[in-house]
Amino acid sequence: MKDAQHELSADDWDELKFPRPEVQEFDRVVERAISRRGFLGGALAFGSGAAVMGTAFLKGTTAFAQGASRFAFEQLAPQTDGTVHVPEGYEWDVLVRWGDPLFSDAPEFDPATGHGVEGSDRIMGENTDGMELFNVGGREILVVNSEYPNPRINLPAAQEGAAQSADDVTLLQNIQGVSVMEVAEGPDGWSVVVDSPYNRRIHHRTPMMIDGPAAGHDLLKTAADPTGTESLGTFNNCGSGRTPWGTYLTCEENFNGYFGTTAEVSESEQVMAGYGRYGVSTEIDPGRYNYHGFDPRFDLSQNPNEPHRAGYIVEIDPADPSSTPIKRTALGRFKHENAAAALAPDGRVVVYMGDDERGEFMYKWVSRDVYTPGGDTSTLLSEGQLHAAKFNDDMTGEWVALTPDATGMDAAEIAIFTRTAASAVGATTMDRPEWIAVNPTAVEAYCCLTNNSRRGVVNEDGSVRTNAGGDPMTVNAVNPRATNRYGQIVRWRPDGDNHASNTFAWDLYVMAGNPTVHQDGPYAGTANINKGNLFNSPDGMQIDSTGLIWIQTDGDDDNEGDFAGMGNNQMLAGDPVTGEIRRFLTGPNGSEVTGLTWSSDRRTMFVGIQHPGAPFPDGPDSLPRSAIVTVKRADGDLVG
Ligand code: FEO
Ligand code: CA
Ligand code: CA
Repeated sequence: MKDAQHELSADDWDELKFPRPEVQEFDRVVERAISRRGFLGGALAFGSGAAVMGTAFLKGTTAFAQGASRFAFEQLAPQTDGTVHVPEGYEWDVLVRWGDPLFSDAPEFDPATGHGVEGSDRIMGENTDGMELFNVGGREILVVNSEYPNPRINLPAAQEGAAQSADDVTLLQNIQGVSVMEVAEGPDGWSVVVDSPYNRRIHHRTPMMIDGPAAGHDLLKTAADPTGTESLGTFNNCGSGRTPWGTYLTCEENFNGYFGTTAEVSESEQVMAGYGRYGVSTEIDPGRYNYHGFDPRFDLSQNPNEPHRAGYIVEIDPADPSSTPIKRTALGRFKHENAAAALAPDGRVVVYMGDDERGEFMYKWVSRDVYTPGGDTSTLLSEGQLHAAKFNDDMTGEWVALTPDATGMDAAEIAIFTRTAASAVGATTMDRPEWIAVNPTAVEAYCCLTNNSRRGVVNEDGSVRTNAGGDPMTVNAVNPRATNRYGQIVRWRPDGDNHASNTFAWDLYVMAGNPTVHQDGPYAGTANINKGNLFNSPDGMQIDSTGLIWIQTDGDDDNEGDFAGMGNNQMLAGDPVTGEIRRFLTGPNGSEVTGLTWSSDRRTMFVGIQHPGAPFPDGPDSLPRSAIVTVKRADGDLVG
């Protein structure tokens, strides 16, 4: 039994311990928000007034004439094999894989045994995720996150994949973080410009500055950095963002998983450190990565404050390879998914962010200062106001400011224990907020709420399951399904067509579901889900310059039962006006499709394939390798 338990995912183990109730809550308010007929009314009402912002950030975009047919492709059927598929009339190719050299002095990757520690900071990182492309002086610079290592694949010689030595740990740390690389298109397609002066690896030991309200706080001081203002490295870089001034935002998500302890940490120390709310484990065991076994920085018994130095948004200048990345603590500390920036009409910078954990919150940050094109942007992300979202069942909502008055915490505490601050103001517990995307052709934004197996689940004592802060995950209009296995996408439009506004109206753009398994009711999904476009667990999302919504999935791909007919994880395109959604690309089995950006001429899409289960892309007898693929139209026309 023990081995079987260890083979279960954390989610499934939790399901075993907390069986779901036989009768699920589904009240009148919820019914109205999600009814298949009700959705279309909401979508049409929303889409009909697609206003266009006239700010500098949106220059170059145009009001899109919203026609009946937005899609330049026929829907792709679901796929279950080990490779990538795109619709007829499109072609795909591999740009770069984990282990490919960014510098010519990097040792060669062995398809059967991977890469050794030597030179592992000179290669493309593992598990590609969020990415953005910047045009710097006419050169195409791709900046991409490497989210987490796969020890069983990255250390094929190690027993059970666990790190066995300091070198193993260094190798895993080197293949995480951020890769900056110049890419160029030649007669044979796109490739990395090896040895470009822009190429750079940012990993677990890259020096960075800590900025904002938490900088210098006692909770951020360590033996190695008694000032609490200089950090080494960034990790678990999930989604991405970009600022109007051309910098990259990398988002530290499940940072907690890299810490452990080699000696007991007392209960009072755990409470003081707030480990519980952030899921930092104080069990004395190797954990999944065992960094703490060989690197004292990750050993809580030696460095109890180190976890407070992670969980932030980090700003990176892709145009200057010698620049020091900056951790922007003003934007809060939580399991950051991505960072979607917009400009308010008065020039203030607005950044929308999700905290990806069951029952955690959505956030918005508004800068104190205004962005002026060509002006000094070095401190724009240093000072501003964080807010957390409250969704009302009448389809209005509010961004509640996380101020000292409202939370009883000071500015530094709000920046370090942001989850606690949001709980204090009664923010709405959400179904795992993943990517947020701002529509460049209308004043509206979207967030993928990927799933939540614990929503509405009742404990044996009759209480409803809560997040780690004790906030109940009761079913409500924006998270309308108990035991939500499929996910939904919420859309909101700020009042006054101003992203800095504190109030908004919302609807659900889509609730994923399976109408072939659940004939009616909430698990069938909204009216824009049909037998042809089935998917679950929306996660990555970008909206292109024409306003099409590109949705990427990270869900169950076993293609059976509740998930029958969905096939492998995929990327779909959605029309914001009609609600129509079509499957565009499928990934190899076992993989998640995550990360999307475009070439400057919009004729190439770059799409991330993370943790393939199949030996993708090199075929049998080779290790599976996460990879970025390019997608183009065969006729060379625009793809975004
Ligand atoms: Fe790293 Fe929530 O995805
Ligand atoms: Ca994600
Ligand atoms: Ca996910």
